[in-house]
Amino acid sequence: MKNQIQNDIVVLAIETSCDETSVAVVKNGREVLSNIIASQVEIHQKFGGVVPEVASRKHIENINPIIQKALDEAGISLESIDVIGVTYGPGLVGALLVGISSAKAIAFSRKIPLVGVNHIEGHIFANFIEHKNLEPPFISLIVSGGHTHLVYVKDYGKYQIMGKTRDDAAGEAFDKIARALKLGYPGGPIIDKLAQKGNKNAVEFPRAYLEEGSFDFSFSGLKSAVLNYLNSCNQKGINIIIEDVAASFQQSVIEVLVNKTIKAAIDKGVKTVTLAGGVAANSELRNLMVEQSKREGIDVKFPSKELCTDNAAMIGVTAYYNYIRGEIADLELNSVPNLKIC
Ligand code: KG4
Ligand code: ZN
Repeated sequence: MKNQIQNDIVVLAIETSCDETSVAVVKNGREVLSNIIASQVEIHQKFGGVVPEVASRKHIENINPIIQKALDEAGISLESIDVIGVTYGPGLVGALLVGISSAKAIAFSRKIPLVGVNHIEGHIFANFIEHKNLEPPFISLIVSGGHTHLVYVKDYGKYQIMGKTRDDAAGEAFDKIARALKLGYPGGPIIDKLAQKGNKNAVEFPRAYLEEGSFDFSFSGLKSAVLNYLNSCNQKGINIIIEDVAASFQQSVIEVLVNKTIKAAIDKGVKTVTLAGGVAANSELRNLMVEQSKREGIDVKFPSKELCTDNAAMIGVTAYYNYIRGEIADLELNSVPNLKIC
């Protein structure tokens, strides 16, 4: 028993890459002792999107109380932390620097290892929290406000990017269409809810499959098609049924996401697919992915909705795996706004 306690590795993880200040305590890679998320969404709502300078300032105000809250909720003190993990990219440079500076200060004063984490890798690893038996290899579809990646996860830390967006990210497309429909920010959850009351076959929007065999995505054409449809209805005095537009737009996005993800799994001969990132919270994306995968004998896993959007628990999980592979940073760690996963 004593040995087991000595072997426990407790990570304090910090995530400040965008508009959520989040701190978590994660034990042995998959056990989340606390995961505090302070969202700034109400502040940015009035601007219709994240204002980087405002986000950085809010992170500075939030970070120390949130660190304390995460420790309190986990029932441990800073002295019991073995490793400090922090997101160092991709993300907003000023926002990332707040988390990195705090993490360095703790690592320096406590003389504990500092581990830099890639935010995208964090989203993939969010799946390990609730699916204890999940192990690579699998295909991961990462769909967030800033990213749309189809990744072959060969092993921990070993990736092949099979496809990515050539223009807008999937979440960005949801947010832009919601703005055009004057629905508010962030648009994804609002469109998701409205779409449940709409007809997905009401308006025929394009599906961007691109060239034969391509695993890339593109959402800008779809965005233009929706905007053109709205303009043309306005000009002709046709009544716009927002629920139908939401459902039809959403269907165009998710059909392409689902088909390419399943094709990627078949291509690589893997039997597990995971969803990650804010858009993975979308109810129809989850439903369609499960339904279509079943036919191919592919198992689908996704995190609970809170773990789909930005959170520090996923950063803690990734930091643990980086740490046990010996990937430790020094106090020169800097933010890398366009950090890649391979
Ligand atoms: O992963 P995330 O919290 O932040 C980034 O790293 O970008 O993702 C936020 C994005 C936003 O674009 C938001 O509109 C979208 O995820 N989102 C959704 C849903 N919930 C959040 N999109 C579609 N359906 C949802 N239910
Ligand atoms: Zn994210």
